Amino acid sequence: MKSSLPQNDPELDYWLKKELERQRDSLEMIPSENFTSLAVMEVLGSILTNKYSEGYPGKRYYGGNKYIDEIENLTRERAKKLFGVEHANVQPYSGSPANQAVMFGLLNPGDTILGMELAQGGHLTHGYKFSFSGRYYRAVNYGVDKETHLLDYEAIREIALKEKPKLIICGATAYPRIIDFAAFRKIADEVQAYLLADISHIAGLVVAGVHPSPVPYADVITTTTHKTLRGPRGAMILLPNVIDRWHDLYHPNGKKNLAELIDSAIIPGLQGGPHNHQTAAIALALKEAAEVNFTAYGKAIVANSQALAKTLIANGFSLITGGTDNHLILIDLSQQGISGKQAEILLDNVGITVNKNLVPYDQRPPLDPSGIRLGTPALTTRGFSTDDMREVGEIIAKVLLQPVNQTVINQVQHRIKALTNKYPLYPEL
Ligand SMILES: Cc1ncc(COP(=O)(O)O)c(C=O)c1O
Repeated sequence: MKSSLPQNDPELDYWLKKELERQRDSLEMIPSENFTSLAVMEVLGSILTNKYSEGYPGKRYYGGNKYIDEIENLTRERAKKLFGVEHANVQPYSGSPANQAVMFGLLNPGDTILGMELAQGGHLTHGYKFSFSGRYYRAVNYGVDKETHLLDYEAIREIALKEKPKLIICGATAYPRIIDFAAFRKIADEVQAYLLADISHIAGLVVAGVHPSPVPYADVITTTTHKTLRGPRGAMILLPNVIDRWHDLYHPNGKKNLAELIDSAIIPGLQGGPHNHQTAAIALALKEAAEVNFTAYGKAIVANSQALAKTLIANGFSLITGGTDNHLILIDLSQQGISGKQAEILLDNVGITVNKNLVPYDQRPPLDPSGIRLGTPALTTRGFSTDDMREVGEIIAKVLLQPVNQTVINQVQHRIKALTNKYPLYPEL
């Protein structure tokens, strides 16, 4: 279909074109971003945005949903099959509302939750004091070991034994290593807590088999669909098993299983009509993720991340935990004498997009922290190889380690152009 935007709204069309140019011409290294397929974008921009369908397939508050029901059922079935779970809710508008729904469904206000501290790699919704999760629940945090910067499961266990959380959240936003879901399950069992595995960042790696799956261990799994999973913005709540393991303890009066608790937390608890265009685009992304080449994609993400890590280390950078097992890298720039904010700006100026990030036990403030976080999912989608990632690492080193003058900027931009030209982004657009 020919775009009508240039005629209808030239001003908006201009900014969309500028953003397309930016995505094409820069090195996109924010670990939570990716480039979804053209087909996914086509579904997102489809007529499905027109329909209201509050409720679930077969039980809607609006008429005219016979095809929407088929689409939502298809999405649910694909999610269940891909992750090997019993139940999937595909309606959360995004990752934060998905986490909110889990807490709303399983907990009462004031209940204790235990999640990873924001400043050490957790997400806002895992109990940060200014988020709903820290305001409506009694949030306690665990962090990483002071020396190794790895999760210390014995220390987490001790906090759990002391604080007796009803919900333990594992999963992170800025942790470059494998998460031991079995260790979290053991702790959760000891204190009779639900275990929520938020795999937003690593869902695509789990599907590709390059990160262990939480399915044998978690009560509930949440994931965004737009990071390593490479779908549209959105989220899912997955239940490995619908049986509520702590039913007698926490929900003695209800006959409800976990699926009912979660589904009713989404609607009528927190949301109204589902975004059907988003649900359908998730269905397509799940189909794409089930194809064999997605496994190769997941492996390439990690290989690229490790190649980049090695190059950065060889250039004298200090990486949190000394490297990476997954799609992301956290650099502590303290030794280089530049802040994360300065680094973000320096890299942005030449066309490399990363984000400033706190490092564990950071002495600097969140808006001007000591580190940067960078990842490989988006560049791997473009087709970047390990050799390309080594080149990217050398470019980053040049920008951050040398005094930047116009000659350096010109040289670096030339090298970036060679890389982005090698792997054209959305040539059809
Ligand atoms: C671990 C984790 N959970 C949840 C979210 C929230 O997702 P959203 O930004 O879609 O609300 C994020 C986003 O970065 C995340 O990293």
